[in-house]
Amino acid sequence: MYQSIITEVDESIGILTLNKADRHNAFDELLISEITTGLLELEADPRVRVVVLSSTGKSFCAGADLNWMKRTAGFTSQENLRDARGFARLLSTLNELGKPTIARVQGPAYGGGLGLIAACDIAVATYDALFALTEVKLGLLPAVISPYLLAAIGERYCRRYMLSAERFSAAEAYRIGLLHEIVPSEDQLDEAIGEIIDSLLKNGPGAQAESKALIRMIAGQPIDESTVEETAQRITRARSSPEGKEGLAAFLEKRKPNWIR
Ligand code: COA
Repeated sequence: MYQSIITEVDESIGILTLNKADRHNAFDELLISEITTGLLELEADPRVRVVVLSSTGKSFCAGADLNWMKRTAGFTSQENLRDARGFARLLSTLNELGKPTIARVQGPAYGGGLGLIAACDIAVATYDALFALTEVKLGLLPAVISPYLLAAIGERYCRRYMLSAERFSAAEAYRIGLLHEIVPSEDQLDEAIGEIIDSLLKNGPGAQAESKALIRMIAGQPIDESTVEETAQRITRARSSPEGKEGLAAFLEKRKPNWIR
């Protein structure tokens, strides 16, 4: 049983909910380790095709729990490193999940909360969600989340928002690429996410996992001989895979592929 999160499975959808509303879902050791374990649980669950990351309460996630941060200042550097590695592992687990992931953002997200959003494949938020990389205000830096943020919003906007710690709106987050969609209310959030899930569930689960791995492999690489060869190898493998054969056969036979339940 978890104390800080809830996991549930609704047909093919695995939902992991941060459930520390009274602390605005701020991260401490327990929340970090429970999210990591919860993600791995949903990844391993054969019923689950899509993972939705959501939160209870007013805020999506207020970043690091500042009381916990204060405690870590008294730790030895070894203890501090172990702690930081826990958060780094959470984000890499989320980033590398084979199943498609969707961040359902219903309110403010600060610091590490932005890291969670950036490490998901798809992010949808309500208009009133607010964002900020507040670390430098506290004399800290957004180190562990930086690879995911850079990939999501690029170097230019990282420079502005990591240095200024300004708050920015959902509209701005949408404009700079952190969010894929913004909607007026929480009801519409569920509707918008439901439509995305409908599309996701029509597609080959193996092909989706391979596409995620492909993006991670190719992102930032020069288009040289080895990249060109690697992409050719990957489509060759997919064409002769059982899923690839089934997908093509289903299209040509005008029927649903067998992964659609
Ligand atoms: N760590 C620890 N406690 C936090 C927290 C955090 N990151 N964010 C909020 N809280 C606590 C507040 O200290 C307060 O505790 P109290 O009731 O014991 O006084 C409680 O949550 C409510 O916060 P409050 O600021 O009164 O609520 P709000 O609705 O006006 O604002 C936030 C919510 C999240 C916008 C605001 O609290 C905030 O900016 N938090 C800091 C975010 C941040 O900089 N995170 C660090 C990233 S590295």
